[in-house]
Amino acid sequence: MNILALLRARFQPVLQPMTDDVAPLLDMIRPAGDPKFGDYQANFAMGLAKKVGKSPRDLAAEIVAAVQLDDLCETPEVAGPGFINLKLRDSWIQQQLDSAQADPRLGVDKAETAKTYIVDYSSPNVAKPMHVGHIRSTVIGDAICRTLKFMGHNAISDNHLGDWGTQFGMIIYGYKNFADADAYKAAPVPELSRIYRVVRGLMDYFDAKKELPILQAKLAERTTECEALKAAGEPADKAEAKKQKKELGRLQSQMDDLSKDIAATQAKIAKTEDSPQASEMAAQHANIAEAVLQETVKLHQGDEQNLALWKEFLPYCEDEIKRVYERLKVTFDHQLGESFYHDRLATVVEEFEKKGLAKESEGATCVFLDGFKAPMIIRKRDGAFLYSTTDLATIQYRMETWKPDAILYVVDFRQGEHFDKLFAATRLWGFDDIELKHVSFGTVMGDDGKPFKTRSGDTVGLEGLLDEAVSRAFKVVSDADDAAPEGPTLDDAKRKQISETVGIAALKYGDLSQNRESDYKFSYDKMLALQGNTATYMQYAYARVQSIFRRGEVDIATLRTSGAKIVIEHPAERQLAIAVLRFSEALDDVLADYRPNYLTNYLFDQLAKSYSTFFDQCKVLKADTPEQKNSRLLLCDLTARVLQQGLNLLGIDTVEKM
Ligand code: ARG
Repeated sequence: MNILALLRARFQPVLQPMTDDVAPLLDMIRPAGDPKFGDYQANFAMGLAKKVGKSPRDLAAEIVAAVQLDDLCETPEVAGPGFINLKLRDSWIQQQLDSAQADPRLGVDKAETAKTYIVDYSSPNVAKPMHVGHIRSTVIGDAICRTLKFMGHNAISDNHLGDWGTQFGMIIYGYKNFADADAYKAAPVPELSRIYRVVRGLMDYFDAKKELPILQAKLAERTTECEALKAAGEPADKAEAKKQKKELGRLQSQMDDLSKDIAATQAKIAKTEDSPQASEMAAQHANIAEAVLQETVKLHQGDEQNLALWKEFLPYCEDEIKRVYERLKVTFDHQLGESFYHDRLATVVEEFEKKGLAKESEGATCVFLDGFKAPMIIRKRDGAFLYSTTDLATIQYRMETWKPDAILYVVDFRQGEHFDKLFAATRLWGFDDIELKHVSFGTVMGDDGKPFKTRSGDTVGLEGLLDEAVSRAFKVVSDADDAAPEGPTLDDAKRKQISETVGIAALKYGDLSQNRESDYKFSYDKMLALQGNTATYMQYAYARVQSIFRRGEVDIATLRTSGAKIVIEHPAERQLAIAVLRFSEALDDVLADYRPNYLTNYLFDQLAKSYSTFFDQCKVLKADTPEQKNSRLLLCDLTARVLQQGLNLLGIDTVEKM
């Protein structure tokens, strides 16, 4: 049962004859912002009145007289210019609580039509370390998949690994030139990461060498502009003077940024040049960028040695990421990486050519798309295929294999243009009956407002991040246990075990509670806070409910089936009951635009807050009568179950004690 959907269904037959398009009117039935105005509010009368030539209040009264709501609501009230205020009947709320409480799905119905979704998420480029950006895709994608499945959809997760790109050219080149055979034999993974870092370091060095004069030239240019402006003197006209000042400020800040970039670039260069060993190595591998590219090309052309090395390295790379997935408790139905599509690429390009959808341009094969300045290149002039070609082949494969209704790509916003073009090309290709959606997300920032990095300047590795969150969670868990009303009950081993759950949860929830399209500032303290919109607070709330049962020696499973009922007496009970019943609405909101933060908002703003008011104002274990006590225990239990189910859909576990 979904209250909002139910109300809309009741109003629909009344509104339908008055309009060509009833959906936007039904959308104007919403939860009331203020309990003063009831539980839900309908605001369509004002807009509709003009069209039907009546006063909004009269129209509202007419609609209220016609709509069938008796079983569900008190008599609706027409307020102000024509708002319709709806208040749910307590008896109806109680009935709904009864059925929610007896239902493992907590009263949430499955979607009317089950659809097939492919959710493409995580998808890191293997052979390089996973970093904090990957956590966003992984946890957002996992939450979306879980929610789709819970709503009865067929959600197929596919980890589209980058397992065929230049990074393999890098480790192949590195292996051929820098590998320590004994070290590799003893422990291949650390040796492969070392090799990757060596090659990365050399490539960065040459990039920095190339970049430095460009930055310096830019700085010189800005400096000249700045000096010229100063030399011109301050204009007499006030407005002009203001404009000049603003321009000087703009130039100055550009110069500051450039100076910082130059210093960082010089530091990178110095790191190599200050070490005789590193300098000599750089001298010996001066054409490394080209050489790495050649190794990649050879791999793609099926060169025996490179292919054998790739086959040897890939499982190690996969093991690396598997460890992270295990800790995050994320699984995939499929893990079909880019390499899987290699043999299909030539055919895809041929198809585009045959259908007249692709043209030759400067030697490259291009798909020209309306509304885009640059075409989408699907084959380079040297014959190489691209990321786009692979993505086209992937769509074709997915259509053939699963016939999905939708494909969701949970990927960084920087790939927005890639997906816009990909989707446009896919439509041209003839797949027009499918929802293609880039579920885009922003950057994780550090305290300095720049992309999150460690002190050494490397982007933060995912495992280090998890370790840190868990070790900080240990302190939170220990403090909470020490302060527990029944006194500390956890030994160190148990605390450690709980910390793993709490630490990982904090990280996930910290991410999921953000508007996915915004950048957000990463902060361990914020995400592990015991107060506020955090996993820690939610897990604590859940554990507190369990502790009520323990302290009251309540066997909640028995009480659930004892015939005891939830009876609403206090306003705080009523508020909490409605919050519990609105779980289903929150899930609809999540899936409307694939935004898990609608679920975290619901859990915090509605469920947890109403629970906390209820807990302050209503005695549970010391209730006035045994009936009242049982009713309140059941309401606590239902709250905890919704909390647990909600967190589960976010990929977060609860703990019984903390
Ligand atoms: N491997 C890519 C990256 O790390 C993301 C792939 C996303 N999925 C896709 N089908 N393009 O940037």
